[in-house]
Amino acid sequence: MKDHSVKLNLLNTLSDGAFHSGESLGKQLGITRAAISKHIQGIQEWGVDIFRVQGKGYQLAQPFIMLNHERIQSQVNNPVELHPIIDSTNQYLLERTDTITSGTVCVAEYQSQGRGRRGRQWMSPFGTNLYFSIFWRLEAGMAAAMGLSLVVGVAVVEAIEALGIEGVKLKWPNDLYHDDKKLAGILVEMSGQAGGAANLVIGMGMNLAMQDKNGEIDQPWTSLVEVIGNDQFDRNQLVVSFIKTLDQALKDYEMHGMQDFVARWNRLDNFIDRPVRLIMGNNEINGIERGIDAHGGVLLETNDGVKSFIGGEISLRSNG
Ligand code: ATP
Ligand code: BTN
Repeated sequence: MKDHSVKLNLLNTLSDGAFHSGESLGKQLGITRAAISKHIQGIQEWGVDIFRVQGKGYQLAQPFIMLNHERIQSQVNNPVELHPIIDSTNQYLLERTDTITSGTVCVAEYQSQGRGRRGRQWMSPFGTNLYFSIFWRLEAGMAAAMGLSLVVGVAVVEAIEALGIEGVKLKWPNDLYHDDKKLAGILVEMSGQAGGAANLVIGMGMNLAMQDKNGEIDQPWTSLVEVIGNDQFDRNQLVVSFIKTLDQALKDYEMHGMQDFVARWNRLDNFIDRPVRLIMGNNEINGIERGIDAHGGVLLETNDGVKSFIGGEISLRSNG
């Protein structure tokens, strides 16, 4: 893996929000001012905004507190790996399912190849969002994975409500929405079966304080700062809270399946009783969304009545 220690050291120093001159940064790290300037450019390529003011030096546009492995690990039982720079936290765990234990978590500050469903890109700038994944060996096997991905979304929204944050909803099958805009996405992937069990990786990306960069994202999105109206949250504590939530949700699902789950989902369904389109390859069906059924399929009411739709190739869009 590439050594990013100089850039991470620079970010650590800059994260206090003050100006730091190229000279003082160079002295601190034992490199030239020209080398500092090059590293700053590299950091900017990770999506971090840094100003340079003549005579003053460099300053972060948005100061942030870096994720801290000790703080996270000391509060959870799951083994946690923090990799500030990674291709994709899902990919990292998927490549290691033979050697890691069920429940292992991978957290990052930046993903160079963060992904959504069907290989779509997940924008993952450094330090402003959350990106993490958990590995789970699901003894019930592959067939149970669809239900599990919905259960995880509900558990995360309920955890957000428990923090006193209101109005976060779900879009089938597993996006978190607020005010009709995407706040977070969940991606469940599988690395094949071992005996009857399925090796699953469940990843979540949540926008915390992402800045709009020339409309890079082609659909409405939001971030936690906008949802709660301030930036007074602790990223490390959010990670801890979500690890505990996912761990518990996965254990509950293994014990009880989707029992009592439909009502919990429907309460949080962003599009329930609203006109939507279901896109399936080249086909599109319009109707009124009626929540989900006990198998985790989305219910659509059309002139032909109410039908359930299920499968990884279906995308739901507002039709209002
Ligand atoms: P589907 O309903 O099929 O899941 P989707 O549009 O939500 O469709 P995903 O694969 O779930 O697609 O997520 C990837 C999409 O999310 C990207 O194509 C882009 O439109 C959007 N996106 C990418 N990065 C972010 C981000 N950080 N925050 C919000 N939305 C993003
Ligand atoms: C989606 O909306 O389709 C899901 C987006 C999931 C993004 C997260 S970020 C952490 C994990 N690693 C990835 O590459 N993707 C997921």
